[in-house]
Amino acid sequence: MGKIGEVILKGVELTKEFGGLRANSQVSFELNKGEILGLIGPNGAGKTTLVNMIAGNTSITSGDVFYNNKSIKGFKPFQIGRMGISRTYQIVKPFPGMTVLENVSVGAMFGSKGSKRSARQALEAAKDVVSFVGLEKYKNDRADVLNIASRKRLEIAKALAMSPEIILFDEVMAGLNLSEIDKAIELILKIRENGTTLFVIEHVMRVIKAICDRVFVLHHGEKIADGPPEKVLNDETVIKAYLGKRYKELACS
Ligand SMILES: Nc1ncnc2c1ncn2[C@@H]1O[C@H](COP(=O)(O)OP(=O)(O)O)[C@@H](O)[C@H]1O
Ligand SMILES: [Mg+2]
Repeated sequence: MGKIGEVILKGVELTKEFGGLRANSQVSFELNKGEILGLIGPNGAGKTTLVNMIAGNTSITSGDVFYNNKSIKGFKPFQIGRMGISRTYQIVKPFPGMTVLENVSVGAMFGSKGSKRSARQALEAAKDVVSFVGLEKYKNDRADVLNIASRKRLEIAKALAMSPEIILFDEVMAGLNLSEIDKAIELILKIRENGTTLFVIEHVMRVIKAICDRVFVLHHGEKIADGPPEKVLNDETVIKAYLGKRYKELACS
């Protein structure tokens, strides 16, 4: 485990090619212990692909990724989860026939403390996480009957139950209304206060401004800017590439 402010996750010139398509081109970034790092960019910019490379969901064409100074390239998602990095999926994937609590228990069995937990301890840990994210009243409901806001919370709960040092969030606010977004912001800040370091892909600029210490921008697979949100969101290249009209709309929302 790193110390506050130290680099704990580092991408070095990460490149991903799908046939002739370069989804990521030499993308480098650093994530410091204790911070919330944002990642923005238009649809198809390569954001999810970058997270997939970090989390072991897709192979890395070239470049490397270091977690606490050790390369994690080539490891499988469950191994990376055990090490202390968990993630959410943009397309939420609950186990449909299972209850909310059962879904979260699975996370509790596969994370950084998973191998040390009995099924009963995993269930206890899952109960704590379910109430922490505000899903207590749905804990015995089947995951597939939840509305989108609750499904997104469940996705966060599954990641949290793995007791990670880092969580990679892939658009956990997508599809939420304004008041649901405000509640999700509160939840994310609460997760950070508990000491988890966060890497957040997000489309809603208001969210980026509210939660991120730093943000970087991908455009056609290339990193075009990084820095504090107020600087990046006012950067001319970024506004031209991405924000423009859409930003003005979203900034006011
Ligand atoms: N498994 C895949 N096979 C082929 N192309 C893919 C695959 N996954 C993503 N891509 C392509 O890579 C590019 C980046 O996609 P993605 O990382 O999902 O972007 P974002 O998350 O920023 O919207 C897109 O052109 C997408 O079509
Ligand atoms: Mg995506």
